[in-house]
Amino acid sequence: MPKGEPFKIKMVEPIRLISREEREAALKAAHYNPFFLRSSDVYIDLLTDSGTGAMSQFQWSAMMLGDEAYAGASSYYKLKETVTDITGYEYVIPTHQGRGAEKSAFSQLITRKGMYVVSNMFFDTTRGHAQLAGARPVDLLMDYPTDEFHPFKGNMDTVKLEQFINEHGAENIACIIMTVTNNSAGGQPVSMANIRETYRIAKKYGLLVLFDVARYAENCHFIRMREEGYADKLPIDIAREMFSYGDGLMMSAKKDALVNIGGLLAFRDEELYNKVGGAVVPFEGFLTYGGLAGRDLEAMAVGLREALDPDYLAYRVGQVQYLGELLRSAGVPIQWPVGGHAVFIDAAKFLPHIPWDQFPGHALTAALYLEGGVRAVEVGSLMMGRDPETGENVRSPFEFTRLAIPRRVYTNQHMEDVAEAVINAYKRREEIRGVRFTKEPKVLRHFTAHFDLV
Ligand code: F0G
Repeated sequence: MPKGEPFKIKMVEPIRLISREEREAALKAAHYNPFFLRSSDVYIDLLTDSGTGAMSQFQWSAMMLGDEAYAGASSYYKLKETVTDITGYEYVIPTHQGRGAEKSAFSQLITRKGMYVVSNMFFDTTRGHAQLAGARPVDLLMDYPTDEFHPFKGNMDTVKLEQFINEHGAENIACIIMTVTNNSAGGQPVSMANIRETYRIAKKYGLLVLFDVARYAENCHFIRMREEGYADKLPIDIAREMFSYGDGLMMSAKKDALVNIGGLLAFRDEELYNKVGGAVVPFEGFLTYGGLAGRDLEAMAVGLREALDPDYLAYRVGQVQYLGELLRSAGVPIQWPVGGHAVFIDAAKFLPHIPWDQFPGHALTAALYLEGGVRAVEVGSLMMGRDPETGENVRSPFEFTRLAIPRRVYTNQHMEDVAEAVINAYKRREEIRGVRFTKEPKVLRHFTAHFDLV
């Protein structure tokens, strides 16, 4: 097998590391929140893998074919046929991005205040939209230690799921959300067996299962590599089986559809499509464009197929693993094995002197920026927010600093620079301080909060 990336580079975007003094000033001006840094002050931007990937020549050329008709554009039908081919779902609606799909679906499926929505683990916007629609989101993730190998650490605890349904009543549960890969748990995959069992339980109690499939192609790759009986199957065939264990999907196309903007809803039956579609028109746009341009739909249709290419997936997940190995061999505590889109540093272990409510995962993002101009993000108790009833900080089971790798953007040499910054920060970890709020927004606080060092 060749070691190189399965592409060569046709267009370049210059980047540069500004001086330590400039980084200190930039971080202070950003109130110690990486979301307020200017990208020109960042050397390697691992804030997110969302919408930050590089499109292929096939996607760029498809954009020239964009049909900008308001309704029934040919670009929509190309997208629809692709989605139906991969998922088996007949009813497809584009949205402007993942959260547009979440808002439309939850506003229609959550019919009473106080209903539950159950997931292997919610992503922050999914959790936020469930709450905004009046529901109580519940995570039923299997409990695995971060440093212990398990092939599918994103799995739903199906024993707890059935207990939860029996305890609270199926009539009080709006739907089950299966997140693949499981971003908040470290980009960890979910096994086909777990997806199948979750669906079996759901159907036993008449519950709806929707996938949150931002990174489903990466999940298919992990199933192929790690689950018995899938080694000889193509990612697309694994995807088809996976989608057969669900009623529909919400997708942020900014990840595994390899586009810079876009989202999707797709459903097996017309009733659900009609119900949710009713909310798409006022919030997103007509059912065949959902807030996107025709050219965006073209790029998405091509990207959805490219992301299922086995060589692409091996390169993609391989690069994340490469960074993970560099860190692990230097003794840095990380979620092990690494997930599909990011290396998650176990900040609770990296910074044991910082209490969880001084957000060690966030404190480490500041340190990494100062060390090497690397931008990362916290995934932990800061992102969890407060309990809407008690107003108390909710403690996350993990305190992570996420290094999310954009698709087809950086080289492995860049990964070595990132590793050096993390290892240097690890060497002087006792000096890293926790953070406290100087401004704290009510919902999705991590995006816009201001901080000071404790
Ligand atoms: N679901 C998952 C699992 C996600 O990771 C995201 C976004 C969304 C839904 C929402 O999609 O951003 O298109 O509205 N995750 C990004 C991240 C932002 O950095 O992990 P969106």
